[in-house]
Amino acid sequence: MSEPILKVQSLSRQFRVGGFRSRGQLHATDEVSFEVAPGEIVALVGESGSGKSTIARVLAGLYPPTSGSIVFENKVLGRKPTRSVRGRMPMVFQDPFGSINPVLRVGHSLLRSLKLHRPDVAKSERFAEAVALLEKVGLTPGVEVLERYPHELSGGQRQRLGFAQALASRPSLILADEPVSMLDVSIRIGLLNVMKGLRDNDGVSLLYITHDLASARYVADRMIVLYAGRIVEEGLTEEVIGSPQHPYTRLLMSTAPDPRLKLTDYEGADDLGEPPKVINPGPGCRFAPRCPLVMAQCRTSTPAMVELSPTHRAACYAVEKK
Ligand SMILES: Nc1ncnc2c1ncn2[C@@H]1O[C@H](COP(=O)(O)OP(=O)(O)OP(=O)(O)O)[C@@H](O)[C@H]1O
Ligand SMILES: [Mg+2]
Repeated sequence: MSEPILKVQSLSRQFRVGGFRSRGQLHATDEVSFEVAPGEIVALVGESGSGKSTIARVLAGLYPPTSGSIVFENKVLGRKPTRSVRGRMPMVFQDPFGSINPVLRVGHSLLRSLKLHRPDVAKSERFAEAVALLEKVGLTPGVEVLERYPHELSGGQRQRLGFAQALASRPSLILADEPVSMLDVSIRIGLLNVMKGLRDNDGVSLLYITHDLASARYVADRMIVLYAGRIVEEGLTEEVIGSPQHPYTRLLMSTAPDPRLKLTDYEGADDLGEPPKVINPGPGCRFAPRCPLVMAQCRTSTPAMVELSPTHRAACYAVEKK
């Protein structure tokens, strides 16, 4: 594997919650370490509340970390990322209006980004560059789309525009937080293909955040599974999907909807239950209360990552014992 462009080391982010008498620390992300290589799509998967967006927001500089370090393109990230870092690692949101200004024409926003982030593009060339960006994400003819307002585009087109906007600053890594979750299934695949195209044709890396395993499987080279703020398993997509080792990953796979099933087939299916809110956590594995393989030590100490292959790891005492 080539030198990673992103190295996240023991990253934690806590939030203070509760009132005067019952104050607590919510551990949204706890001691998370992972890397992203150039031209790689890494999926961050987990249930609602597992800390996926918190990781993306800390990386984007929207929240400072409580502790831990982030090295991006061989530089340690400071508390406030510079414009250049924000341009090299932009974010695409679930709601496109998180990154698109609704009152500006598409062309206006794109040209402005090019002006801010791309001194190498001469003023006379910006228009052509903006058209090229739109066409790269499948918004054709670019010359016409430039004239539109974001609300004149469909949901899928707006998400494509979110990627074009991110591309305008010539990123090496795009943080994509549930970029297709609000779209119809039939439209999703087009956007997942846009993401693959950015990786394959432009060498851009993506951190693809999703709770949808099927889309992660379709698009990602590697998968990181989060549970209650911690990484429980990590590996090449075929390793994690083909041979899930952590009991939580297995549970997640067993409850992932099979697209061939009818809705009525879900009746009686396992309910995952709510993932816990991690407030003032004690020691031990956070999955222990729901784990079918739980042992005494799981409740008293946190399992370390066990290497299953050079690329596959899981944090579980039961895996260790095998
Ligand atoms: N600004 C905040 N203040 C307090 N708690 C927060 C804040 N942001 C996130 N949290 C809490 O941190 C935990 C992780 O939230 P996060 O949004 O990262 O989860 P997620 O995996 O992105 O979930 P979803 O799939 O629903 O988007 C949750 O318990 C959430 O309530
Ligand atoms: Mg989220």
